[in-house]
Amino acid sequence: MTHRSNAPRRTASRLALRIAGAAISAGCALMAWSSLAEENAITAAAKSATSIFTESEIRRILSHGPWPAPAPADPTNRVSGKREAIELGTHLFFDQRLSGSGTLSCASCHVPERNWTDNRRRGAGMAELERNTPTLSNLAAGRWYGWDGAADSLWSQSLRPIVDSRELASSPRQIAQLIRGDDQLSCRYRKAFGAQPATDDETVFVNVGKALAAFQETLTSGRTSFDHFRDALSRGAPPTSWRYSETAQRGLKLFIGKGGCTNCHAGPNFTNGEFFNTGLTKNTSDPGRQAGIQRLAKSHLNLLGAFNDDTTGTSAARTRALSPAKENFGEVKVPSLRNLMLTTPYGRDGSIDTLADVVKHYATIDPVRLHAKDGQPAMPLNLSAREQSDLVVFLESLSTFSNPWRPEEDGPCR
Ligand code: HEC
Ligand code: HEC
Repeated sequence: MTHRSNAPRRTASRLALRIAGAAISAGCALMAWSSLAEENAITAAAKSATSIFTESEIRRILSHGPWPAPAPADPTNRVSGKREAIELGTHLFFDQRLSGSGTLSCASCHVPERNWTDNRRRGAGMAELERNTPTLSNLAAGRWYGWDGAADSLWSQSLRPIVDSRELASSPRQIAQLIRGDDQLSCRYRKAFGAQPATDDETVFVNVGKALAAFQETLTSGRTSFDHFRDALSRGAPPTSWRYSETAQRGLKLFIGKGGCTNCHAGPNFTNGEFFNTGLTKNTSDPGRQAGIQRLAKSHLNLLGAFNDDTTGTSAARTRALSPAKENFGEVKVPSLRNLMLTTPYGRDGSIDTLADVVKHYATIDPVRLHAKDGQPAMPLNLSAREQSDLVVFLESLSTFSNPWRPEEDGPCR
């Protein structure tokens, strides 16, 4: 990790540039899969007399799918995608022996029925945390984890709550002893990693994180009414067969157009994975990304360390390039907008109760130009009451009514 104390200030239209970059990469992804048949479908759909969308709007809509989006295995985790590791990770996720007190597990806060959240304002284990518990759906192929991006891999993010005194309050030693001492866990460990749990506590501990990550990578949210609509558009199905309410269609038009929402909530998972401060939550003391970068730099579990299984060095490059800047203060990771109906309350600190309240906030600001310091005036969105409710209906169409995940019985390990 490089520390540049006098890093050149990336001011001016830094946000505008980052947003443009995200839009370009979304555009490139779009080009890659859009076939000739789809091109024809787009033109036909746009020309249809009842279509409220232009050709360029349809292209934007298609960039939010297909769903589920394919996710490649994680090169930093050698057991990513391996069935035996997923099984071990599933058992560990629900095992209360992962906590110092023996009374809490990952699932105490990331509850499956609640779409892997707790529906509390802020997470609480041994003590209350500062931030809202995020969902664990659709995390595969992410770049940074945690609201502040303090982890650069899903496996290192999964180790943090085990040792945090406010969460599971355990230790690498206790975890390693648990794995070595339990027949079933050590059998599953052997199958996942091809060796007995080592005598070195740290190695066993890190592998526990990698098994937990292998499990979490399998968690994907279900298909929604938006996904069915999007696929109908890509097939060129006539508007009369869309089965997507006109209210949701109007909300979608705002989302990809005037609202500018798709600049940050981009792609199939409705996030570009980057960090911004939209002033949504009034918690102005949260340093967010700025402290996250510092914590990541200090961690011996980051991708620059010895536990990264990617020997090519490619995956570590992003971490190496980081340096904290003043502008990062208060920024948090853009959350996915999928399955929000299951994850109230909203915002990094859970201070917003409803989707209507989130949209009301955006109605009075200029989310895209909020931080562009290039002298251009910000233009608040000034959304009317009807526009706001259209947006809410659209956001609801990105959600299912329940988490499709169900436990699988895998039998005892022999
Ligand atoms: C006490 C409640 C609590 C427990 C227990 C807990 N978490 Fe979390 N989890 C949180 C909160 C709160 C955050 C957000 C932390 C932050 O960004 O500051 C989080 C963040 C995460 C993230 C990052 C998600 C993202 O979008 O980047 C992952 C992954 C995760 N937890 C996995 C786990 C695993 C695996 C366990 C068990 C080993 C676990 N958590 C235990 C509350 C909890
Ligand atoms: C500049 C990037 C950016 C733009 C543009 C943007 N958002 Fe966000 N959005 C964020 C960030 C960052 C958060 C998290 C803020 C926080 O918790 O402090 C967020 C949070 C949200 C949430 C709450 C999700 C949750 O799980 O807590 C919703 C809903 C949302 N945005 C919808 C929208 C809509 C609708 C628009 C367009 C009117 C929009 N966003 C435009 C970056 C953006």
